[in-house]
Amino acid sequence: MCGIIGIMSDKGPAAPRLLEGLTRLAYRGYDSAGVATLAGGALHRRRAEGKIAALAEKLAADSPPGTRGIGHTRWATHGGPTEINAHPHATDKVAVVHNGIIENHAALRVEMEAAGHVFTTQTDTEVIVHLVTENLSRGMDPRAAAFAALDRLEGAYAVVFLFADEGAPMIGGRCGTPLAVGWGEGEVFLASDSYALAPLTSRVTFLEDGDRVVVTAQEAQIVDCAGSTVERPVRTSTISAAQIGKGDHKHFMHKEIHEQPAVLGELINGLVFEPAVLEALAATPRLTMAACGTAAYACRVGAYWLESLARLPCAVDIASEFRYRTPPLPEKGAALFVSQSGETLDTLEALRYARSQGQTIISILNTIESTMERESDYVLRTHAGPEIGVASTKATAAQLTVLAGLALALAGDRPDEAAALRHLPALMVEVLERETEIAGLARVLAGFTHMLYIGRGPLYPLACEGSLKMKEISYIHAEAYAGGEFKHGPIALIDEDFPTVALAPSTDPLFDKMRSNMEELAARGGKILLLSDADGVAAMGKTATWSFAVPEVHPFTAPILYLLPLQLLAYHAALAKGTDADQPRNLAKSVTVE
Ligand code: M6R
Repeated sequence: MCGIIGIMSDKGPAAPRLLEGLTRLAYRGYDSAGVATLAGGALHRRRAEGKIAALAEKLAADSPPGTRGIGHTRWATHGGPTEINAHPHATDKVAVVHNGIIENHAALRVEMEAAGHVFTTQTDTEVIVHLVTENLSRGMDPRAAAFAALDRLEGAYAVVFLFADEGAPMIGGRCGTPLAVGWGEGEVFLASDSYALAPLTSRVTFLEDGDRVVVTAQEAQIVDCAGSTVERPVRTSTISAAQIGKGDHKHFMHKEIHEQPAVLGELINGLVFEPAVLEALAATPRLTMAACGTAAYACRVGAYWLESLARLPCAVDIASEFRYRTPPLPEKGAALFVSQSGETLDTLEALRYARSQGQTIISILNTIESTMERESDYVLRTHAGPEIGVASTKATAAQLTVLAGLALALAGDRPDEAAALRHLPALMVEVLERETEIAGLARVLAGFTHMLYIGRGPLYPLACEGSLKMKEISYIHAEAYAGGEFKHGPIALIDEDFPTVALAPSTDPLFDKMRSNMEELAARGGKILLLSDADGVAAMGKTATWSFAVPEVHPFTAPILYLLPLQLLAYHAALAKGTDADQPRNLAKSVTVE
């Protein structure tokens, strides 16, 4: 996905404000960035390959004039991450920034080329700017030209147009990807989300799918897909500058890891579920769960809890497979979707499939006002606050906590597990206080090229999460297996250069099984980093090469507590390897394309 911003103002220079907005949107994509401003009846464009800092350098040397402008930070889909392919795309009449994919771009390109338009990029987006330019040259006014161009597009988009005409409005439109209007004093803004708008205004309106918006510095008129002018609610955003800053931390990821005890403390205190949600879950013959990446691992951990405590049968799948598998779903069933952003397209389409099959849709979401929120029957909020680091950390812990709470609410009287959940934030603080020890272990692991993670029960999907975290930010190849499974093949990989991170609390009923699995690895020369408690570390003696004694924890909440050392291992391995933990290569925070 990409981040877009537009400023319609007569006040100060647009370029620095666009740059600040893009910095806040960088989590959405960061392989190139650009701005276009309007001054003297002409468009002024600056674009740069690479992270926002490269654009910032260009702007510092040569800032474009004007108080109105648009900006874009890109996660490449069509065409490599080059300056030529960076947005805004422009002719001498109009510039556009776009988030999404235009599926019929090839056909439109042929049509535009036949009409004499010369394309200079490999992007799907460039076709939009030629369509609008063609419409303008046929005598349409900017609004009509933009609307007619949007009518031709198939696929997903949020777009903002800036015209080389001082009297023209800025035009925005959304279909499948988000766009918000920010209401300033005598100025109006457009952006992909309220984080980008936070320094500009707290008054925000989220457009609905099919909406278009016609923006002047004084006002914005929203037109729905039927062409009628509509009012959409204006909300007061509660996002503060502190929430979207790094504070004293080197990276957002580090800040977000350290926010977890506070986030979970608040969340656990306020954890209540609408009776209708519990009724839907109690009534479903089987709960369908789908999500992507880390959120899918959270679902898999949650399924262990829901099945073992609440005796609720669960079917978990990754969303990109689920939707095309078209599985039969139970009559009057319920389906649960988990997403930090609420915008991940694979998850959204899985949700839409479940809805088409008559399921009650429940979503566990972090970001407010997302598309998934609008399309769900019930939303369970994780209240983790803005998560900017690309690697999910506090949102994951919060997703797990909501799932744990849900399992308890459905299971009934479980005083020990409920007490364990309440005690969790204090144990998390203890882990974070010993970060230096984990950092030392991470520096050792950073010297390896490959790694294995193992766990049993709910600690198996957690091992998968640990390996995902390691590979996405440190680029170390990390595989995860259930403790009992790797002997069925993957054990062939093990030698002294292929260490294993083993998740094995001594309180876990399967500790002895894990112990045998670790012995099997050690017998083959495999090095082991044992994550256990003091008793577990003592029991494993010299079998483990390295160990970290996690505070003793109830097996129910172990997956949430053990998340922290896994996050810190990955973070410090990334630091040791010199990769960018917040913005690892090739990734974007949420993926709104297939
Ligand atoms: O916004 P979502 O939770 O739907 O995102 C799902 C995944 O893309 C996300 O969890 C991804 O795997 C993260 N990079 C993991 O750290």
